[in-house]
Amino acid sequence: MKVLLQTPRLVLREFTESDAGLLIGLDSDPAVMRFISNGLPTPRAEILADYIPAYLAYHQRTPNFGFWVAQRPDSGEFLGWFHLRPEHGAPATEPELGYRLRQACWGRGLATEGSIALINHAFANTPATRVTASTMAIHSASRRVMEKSGMRLVREFTAEWQVPIDGDEFGDVEYEVTRASWLASRA
Ligand SMILES: CC(C)(COP(=O)(O)OP(=O)(O)OC[C@H]1O[C@@H](n2cnc3c(N)ncnc32)[C@H](O)[C@@H]1OP(=O)(O)O)[C@@H](O)C(=O)NCCC(=O)NCCS
Repeated sequence: MKVLLQTPRLVLREFTESDAGLLIGLDSDPAVMRFISNGLPTPRAEILADYIPAYLAYHQRTPNFGFWVAQRPDSGEFLGWFHLRPEHGAPATEPELGYRLRQACWGRGLATEGSIALINHAFANTPATRVTASTMAIHSASRRVMEKSGMRLVREFTAEWQVPIDGDEFGDVEYEVTRASWLASRA
């Protein structure tokens, strides 16, 4: 299993085919899926036929962008996943950050710890000029992670969701951290 990076409390490693069960479990929790699908679980068939092949394809194409399993460094316990990759149609210099963690590990700063590590990775190891992240306007926890990771609000917009989500009438927000601001924060 190839490790992208490690922080004090997280290992981010590449996905394997045998991780499908972990994703099925993660996406079965209505609280985890609240701001993604209005709480509906991701169908098992979709995880097997779409998610896992897409994640493995990223690992084949490039070591620096994709989706990674987050696990505890000591026990290997599954915590969730993070992604860093350009959205469809976005330039390779503008990767988007994302995260989905098991409810059992919320509120301990893990999403922030992983996000900061991936932002550092983006600017240290890729030609990224900015890293973006977006979420529903009412998703306060996710917005807080973005703020704590050094990102700032740059845009309000209306995303196209596959299913109606409670609160989607308040729209969506995009955050960013630019290479210049990242460099300044480290000076
Ligand atoms: C969003 C998510 C990744 C946050 O993970 P986490 O590890 O709990 O995040 P952190 O502990 O690093 O930070 C969370 C921050 O949000 C705050 N927060 C949590 N719930 C909140 C709420 N309802 N209102 C306001 N702030 C809230 C926390 O207090 C914390 O801020 P603080 O450190 O200033 O106190 C996690 O809840 C999750 O995986 N949710 C399901 C998937 C998801 O929604 N992903 C994002 C899609 S855009």
